[in-house]
Amino acid sequence: MKSTRPFYPTPVIAIDGPTASGKGTVATLVAAHLGFHLLDSGALYRLAALASMRYTIAADDADGLAKLIDDLHITFREGMAQLDGVDVSNDIRAEEVGNRASMIAAHPSVRTALVARQRAFRKLPGLVADGRDMGTVIFPDAGLKVFLTASAEARAARRYKQLIQKGFSANMDDLLRDLRERDARDSNRAAAPLKPAADAKLLDTSALTIDQAVEQVVQWYQQASELRSELRSVRQDAHGKSQ
Ligand code: DC
Repeated sequence: MKSTRPFYPTPVIAIDGPTASGKGTVATLVAAHLGFHLLDSGALYRLAALASMRYTIAADDADGLAKLIDDLHITFREGMAQLDGVDVSNDIRAEEVGNRASMIAAHPSVRTALVARQRAFRKLPGLVADGRDMGTVIFPDAGLKVFLTASAEARAARRYKQLIQKGFSANMDDLLRDLRERDARDSNRAAAPLKPAADAKLLDTSALTIDQAVEQVVQWYQQASELRSELRSVRQDAHGKSQ
């Protein structure tokens, strides 16, 4: 007999935004707060970029890069990103790797090769997905879509602090220039450009603390969940009456 139980998709919160907008930190804390899984999609692009450097596949070799990604052995375990079984969590955070990730991410073949790996993160009880196209391409049915922004200066200052803390050297002027270049490349590419989904909520974090940003996202999610359960009970009532 066919089941009449309604199908409720695993919840997803999509958090998109430009580099250093704070989305990684906000996504991690929202996921911890709700007990959800986390997808750092930028880490996947960075892993692919690092692998392309190690296996000397040129940044403009779209087919070679897609083939490399299909064969990549990537794992995320206890906050560690592994490439071929080796922890590369620190290596993928280098600016050089981030810039190359932005370059290879412009190829549609590279983006397509990474789609299934990203969607595989969607598991119960839910997922917080952070990236550039989570709400527009990877999870268009996400229950909540947030687009985080912050001024270029605020983002460069954050990136500077992060790099210094991780023991990398950094220069503010270079960072600001790289960040603007990367924003332009990520926003102007033809394949899945960085832009808010039509139904995304915009959150400017320039003047917010991390805690305030997290609180806002959790509040939006709770409001959206309440609305969905109200809709469900209205539908179930209507279904019951029509039986
Ligand atoms: O979020 P990040 O800085 O770690 O991402 C590195 C680069 O990867 C970014 O400049 C563009 C690309 N990227 C993308 O195109 N789509 C995503 N969903 C995530 C990252």
